[in-house]
Amino acid sequence: NPIHSIGSRVKSPESIAEKIVRKGLSMDLRDVSKSLLDIAGVRVICNYIEDIYLIAGLLKGQSDIRTIREVDYIKNPKENGYRSLHLVIAVPVFFVDRVEEIPVEVQIRTIAMDFLASLEHQLRYKSKGDIPQFIAKELKECAETIAETDLKMERIHSFLDSIELNSALGD
Ligand code: GTP
Ligand code: MG
Repeated sequence: NPIHSIGSRVKSPESIAEKIVRKGLSMDLRDVSKSLLDIAGVRVICNYIEDIYLIAGLLKGQSDIRTIREVDYIKNPKENGYRSLHLVIAVPVFFVDRVEEIPVEVQIRTIAMDFLASLEHQLRYKSKGDIPQFIAKELKECAETIAETDLKMERIHSFLDSIELNSALGD
């Protein structure tokens, strides 16, 4: 199973309002639904990096789903070390009299990437945006270690696959 766990959330009215103000967006309801693409959010946690791309590929290949945006923070990690694959997809929602496309932000990451992102998020939240520099530095070091570990784990896992394949072939 390429999926370790899945979580979802709907953005609270307070954080919708906060984001509109922070980004200087229009308060008009029709504009909000076009400019805020993360009102519905799904987080998919995978064991291995290759699973992330497998899930993303499956999602993008669905004929009823349209990809609006894709940001690969794994190939291009953020300055703070944050890694994840972000997709914004348009999902058709069926009402009695019409079908509407609703944007959903999908964040796909490994367990280890999630571990780091959660801690970083809590720190940022509690320190109101300004994570002390020595902590930010330590976090980034953790992010690099985690990225190396994810790659090592993936290599070991494919070795396991090859053992299983050999024994299935009666080696
Ligand atoms: P936001 O205004 O933060 O929502 O950014 P955005 O909608 O312009 O897009 P982006 O893809 O950068 O971020 C979307 C979401 O990814 C955020 O709301 C967070 O949940 C998550 N995210 C992005 N960057 C970071 C980060 O540096 N640390 C953590 N912990 N989460 C992040
Ligand atoms: Mg966002």
